[in-house]
Amino acid sequence: MTFLRLTDQALAGKRVLIRADLNVPQDDSGNIIEDTRIRASVPAIEHALRAGAAVMVTSHLGRPTEGELLPEDSLAPVARRLGELLRRPVPLVANWVDGGFEVRAGEVVMLENCRVNKGEKKNDEALARKMAALCDVYVNDAFGTAHRAEASTHGIARFAKVACAGPLMAAELDALGRALHKPARPLVAIVAGAKVSTKLIILKTLAAKVDQLIVGGGIANTFLLATGVSIGKSLAEPDLVGEARAVMELMHARGADVPLPEDVVVANDLSLHARANRVPVGAVSLDDMILDIGPKSAAQLTRLLGNAGTIVWNGPVGVFEYDQFAAGTRAVAEAIANSGAFSIAGGGDTLAAIAKFGISERISYISTGGGAFLEFLEGRKLPAVEALEARAREPASGAGMRD
Ligand code: 3PG
Ligand code: MG
Repeated sequence: MTFLRLTDQALAGKRVLIRADLNVPQDDSGNIIEDTRIRASVPAIEHALRAGAAVMVTSHLGRPTEGELLPEDSLAPVARRLGELLRRPVPLVANWVDGGFEVRAGEVVMLENCRVNKGEKKNDEALARKMAALCDVYVNDAFGTAHRAEASTHGIARFAKVACAGPLMAAELDALGRALHKPARPLVAIVAGAKVSTKLIILKTLAAKVDQLIVGGGIANTFLLATGVSIGKSLAEPDLVGEARAVMELMHARGADVPLPEDVVVANDLSLHARANRVPVGAVSLDDMILDIGPKSAAQLTRLLGNAGTIVWNGPVGVFEYDQFAAGTRAVAEAIANSGAFSIAGGGDTLAAIAKFGISERISYISTGGGAFLEFLEGRKLPAVEALEARAREPASGAGMRD
């Protein structure tokens, strides 16, 4: 992957527009629940400010209707939080596409929710050109939105004088590329979640690459079903048993493995007070639901993860939100934390598990991407990254050459 990097650009006195992903979760009153993405976006902004640029930052927030800025779609709380982190005011500018606002060198403003601009989602060329005209250097630091070809993530990169990747974007691509394209082996992936259907492409892509493919959750249940195990009333997709079998065959043909649980934790219902029972995988009764892996399986995964050279983690192996079904995911989390492997993790549930078990400092890289992380694992080209790469291939796009 070759793209220009913000840290290689001359920025003094330049107008720099940073597209960040500040799409953070909020409660009903608009308070920010979790600010990782804002904190992760700070280094690009600080770099540009220190270099003497006039800095504009924008992001989408949620999925607003284009053409109207409703109060709940405003980046105001995000601008306030960013201001706290930067220890300086971050004024918020609405209706900014046609310019008419001022930013001085060494100052930063936030440009309102870019998804409110008409034409953003459809990657409208006229909108992209207007946004490009606002800056000398366009910086895409929004890895979390890199799977979207929108005017602020794709079109603008085609028309800005200089288009480069910010440090977060670069770090994400470096970490994911290291894990999947030149991994230290054995490469072990954990793909867990409710449904095979939503992760089928990931399972197939990884089945061609990894040494061990650990499946968990409803996905594991479908794999167990494919091996003829009775899973009671566990969540599974019986119509995808053939796909599960195909993944296992692909792995076995390569001399690789899909380790399935030998024991599981079951209950008759999923509730706070549900009684959990540990049973061998062959002893799941008709009214049981598999809600976690058992201790023997956890020990097996712990051994396997302990020997890994690289670990890619997406998805909890049990319903870890309930304490009686959390042991499997806790064991996996701790095994990853204790392992000497290069480890990457991503996805909403996985991040929640990492937070719950307090291991964030011991994962080599935690992605800020949800959908973008998953599409990378699927082996797909991220359109926003492609746009930066295309610009880096143009001879005229070298730093400063268009000025
Ligand atoms: C995300 O939260 O996954 C990104 O910010 C992208 O948001 P989107 O799914 O609304 O495009
Ligand atoms: Mg989303």
